[in-house]
Amino acid sequence: MSNQNLLEELVEIARSFASYGKVADYIPALSDQNPDDLAICIYSIENESFYAGDHLKKFTLQSISKVITLALVLMDNGEEEVFSKVGMEPTGDPFNSIAKLETNKPSKPLNPMINAGALAVTNMIKGDTVVEKWDRLIEFISHLTGQKVTYNEDVAYSELQTANLNRSLCYFMKQHGVITGNVEDLLVLYTKQCAVEMNCVDLAKIGAVFANDGLDPESGKQLISRDVARICKTFMVTCGMYNSSGEFAIKVGIPAKSGVSGGIMGSVPGRCGIGIFGPALDEVGNSFAGVKLLEGLSAKYSWSIF
Ligand code: DON
Repeated sequence: MSNQNLLEELVEIARSFASYGKVADYIPALSDQNPDDLAICIYSIENESFYAGDHLKKFTLQSISKVITLALVLMDNGEEEVFSKVGMEPTGDPFNSIAKLETNKPSKPLNPMINAGALAVTNMIKGDTVVEKWDRLIEFISHLTGQKVTYNEDVAYSELQTANLNRSLCYFMKQHGVITGNVEDLLVLYTKQCAVEMNCVDLAKIGAVFANDGLDPESGKQLISRDVARICKTFMVTCGMYNSSGEFAIKVGIPAKSGVSGGIMGSVPGRCGIGIFGPALDEVGNSFAGVKLLEGLSAKYSWSIF
């Protein structure tokens, strides 16, 4: 069977699992997504791509954006500065939990993939104003995909109106000196970052840059330093699938990052990037069908890194 036929067959098998999941609704604008959607793209480091499902359908990155912002912020500030504000350990807690911020001493978020850690990372994007910081971030993302990327204003606004848990995380961290500046400005930047919109082909392309040690398979340019790409992939393994990262490492074994819109970015080192969109989520917030699809692919192609 050809790669293309196999991909189409795996998508149809995985799609049947979507009915076990549920579309996220704590961000109101995400609640009207179609739970039966499923699309995938595999983008090789030789710059070839295969896709199946509705591959042109756009979705917002949500938490997947955390890996990309981390890459920019690490290149902006260096490891020492970044890891003085955010840790490197998985939490085992839900992505929006506030619990360990209080019990961890000194008080800093445990890793950059939970909301508290991601907010602290976004706070470190270089720039004098929110506009300047945003312009740098969206330009970086556009370089990674190879085309102009924008964000979904409705989703960003909808999250900003309802982000009271993230607001609390910010005020807690501000009190403890983890973040500086105006909290509302930070939330505007963070919700725009989470609302960056693209299709699974663009997402797979970004995954391929990470898989290729930061080198763009299309232009041959080093868009992310090798070291930063390594750090980001490591976080994808240890914390990328939230409090099911351990189970995912055993069943799939591919560095991956999910978002509540139903996206997953995978990065198979030295081989390819993977972009998936399937908005029906499991109980921890990962795409139900997307995880099944990755299980099938990893088994078929022996892509586990372990
Ligand atoms: O901050 C939030 O809650 C969302 N913008 C992103 C969370 C997310 O994607 C977690 N994913 N599983």
